[in-house]
Amino acid sequence: MQSAPQAAPEPGSDSAPKEGAERARQVRTIFSEIAPRYDLLNHVLSLNIDRRWRRAAVARLDWERAPRGLYLDACAGTYDLALELCGRKGFAGRLVASDFAHPMLVQGGPKIASEPVSAVCGDSLVLPFAEETFDGATVGFGVRNLADVRAGIRELHRVLRPGARLVVLEFTVPPNPVMRAGYLLYFNRILPVIGRVVSGHPWAYTYLPESVKEFPGPKELGGIFEDAGFSDAGWKLLSGGIAALHWGVA
Ligand SMILES: C[S@@+](CC[C@H](N)C(=O)[O-])C[C@H]1O[C@@H](n2cnc3c(N)ncnc32)[C@H](O)[C@@H]1O
Repeated sequence: MQSAPQAAPEPGSDSAPKEGAERARQVRTIFSEIAPRYDLLNHVLSLNIDRRWRRAAVARLDWERAPRGLYLDACAGTYDLALELCGRKGFAGRLVASDFAHPMLVQGGPKIASEPVSAVCGDSLVLPFAEETFDGATVGFGVRNLADVRAGIRELHRVLRPGARLVVLEFTVPPNPVMRAGYLLYFNRILPVIGRVVSGHPWAYTYLPESVKEFPGPKELGGIFEDAGFSDAGWKLLSGGIAALHWGVA
């Protein structure tokens, strides 16, 4: 077991984010392999702040418009964001939770056993649903992993009913220079080591900071929402800009 801090990956190395079909294969491999430790690592590495972020995401969904509606959680992983919506007082709807890494869905299976959540194994870039199916959609820490972010946001727009909201929760890089320095130190040096030790995966948690660094900032992502046809697109930084919420109305 190594414990020395890792340097940024060489382009072309396993952990450097890839493009196109290679990217999809890389991401599916990572999440399939880390699935058994994903929940533990999520809460440890974020110091449990991820729970607060998920609550904030659901609060932006405007599900109260259709409390008996059908909702999509894309890139659902082990269902934590889907469960956050199910747990809202007054929510009486149903959820479809989709992900292309089958082991993630299986790993989280016991958590949804008595919840109104149906799991679907599928690619968010070609969602297996008809147009205007859902009353709202969420994506937690998934959009950054898509091989084509624009295509993914367009696809989400396609499956939403007019007036339904999309809420995306993603990591971003804090704008404040002091905070950014601390964040980058943690993300580049500490997180990959903890991730490697706890998950046993040699490079999955080196991919994570790399994928955040190459992801569009909140303003650019807001523009991508608008280009995809969303109106009232907005965004809000969370925890000083470690994460950001994005939303838009279909
Ligand atoms: C960081 S996890 C987030 C899981 C969950 N949403 C959460 O908040 O904990 C990212 C998830 O996105 C999934 N994912 C990435 N790209 C995908 C794609 N193109 N289609 C479907 N799922 C995808 C991965 O398999 C993984 O389970």
